[in-house]
Amino acid sequence: MYNAIRRILFLFPPESIHYFLMNSLKALCSIGLIRRLLARYFSEKGGRLTTTELHLKFQNPVGLGAGFDKNAKWLTELETLGFGFVEIGTVTPLPQEGNKKPRLFRLPKDSAIVNRMGFNNDGVQAVAQRLKRWRSDASSQSSNLIIGGNIGKNKITPNEDAWKDYEICFKELHPYVDYFVVNVSSPNTPGLRELQEKESLRKILRHLQMINNGKARSKPILLKISPDLMQDQIDDILDLALEIKLDGLVCTNTTVSRAGLLTGKDEIEKIGQGGLSGKPIRERSTLIIEYIHKKTAGEIPIIASGGIFTGAHAKEKLNVGADLLQVWTGFIYEGPGIVKKICTSLK
Ligand SMILES: Cc1cc2nc3c(=O)[nH]c(=O)nc-3n(C[C@H](O)[C@H](O)[C@H](O)COP(=O)(O)O)c2cc1C
Repeated sequence: MYNAIRRILFLFPPESIHYFLMNSLKALCSIGLIRRLLARYFSEKGGRLTTTELHLKFQNPVGLGAGFDKNAKWLTELETLGFGFVEIGTVTPLPQEGNKKPRLFRLPKDSAIVNRMGFNNDGVQAVAQRLKRWRSDASSQSSNLIIGGNIGKNKITPNEDAWKDYEICFKELHPYVDYFVVNVSSPNTPGLRELQEKESLRKILRHLQMINNGKARSKPILLKISPDLMQDQIDDILDLALEIKLDGLVCTNTTVSRAGLLTGKDEIEKIGQGGLSGKPIRERSTLIIEYIHKKTAGEIPIIASGGIFTGAHAKEKLNVGADLLQVWTGFIYEGPGIVKKICTSLK
């Protein structure tokens, strides 16, 4: 049935329909009875998939990747759809409008998306205040949702000062999120991916760890990597991750590659720059997870992100060493039942 609905939804501009649908869901979920009915329908039942990773208890291992709920506006609604965790952000210190629209494109022939959003977000202070309110809100008191905070730097911040932006976001969000993801792998902020170089990373991550260690309750810090890294770059990151005892990796972000797409060349050219996500990155992301898991003998926890649409895709990631899963493009193509479908096949 969702296939028919999707055909109608795909007639509308992707960014507008995203906000329209999520805000409509918010309105529906504000009615307690409807929220409970939706939760009953969409949630995985029985607690058989409850898992402890990163010293946190997840109701199920299926989460929503960063960039969907950038400003932490729809946490209750996403939990209602069954997600075990939601990664908010990427959040930057100052609010940002992001790139000029249109900046989000569907590639239905490839079950893919291209985006060049450019870290549009309300800024860390507004997001922290929203999370604070959500945490104290009656409807979230019974929530088991794990919240990740994905942090980045503002476009205007030069790379040599990037560590300061990560520090600001880390400190502001620390009381309100359960884990952190340092994002240096988005292709849509000029120069950002250069921060994946070992010494730049060491500076940022060490600094955050130092602040973390000074807190009464420290939070896991993970790093999100690009699927476009060469093997020696991955090796460098693994050396560093083991050396500084990083809590985990998110593998992977979107790719700048356009190899092997079914969508016509002209259309791809017309869309222009941006990160490609969905089915075309599935295999590459899985190979990276497999490589990392083998090379580190499973010492580094991995959140898999990249082309997960079905239970079979989820199992593929878990079988090569992933500990948790995130969907994004799959949510758009498979619809709101995706978490339940994946969870059912994992039982
Ligand atoms: C429209 C869009 C916006 C995104 N924004 C972010 C972001 O702000 N930060 C981030 O770390 N990843 C972002 N991502 C990447 C996703 O979190 C995910 O890692 C990637 O899309 C691969 O997963 P998928 O194939 O399931 O979509 C974004 C992806 C999309 C499609």
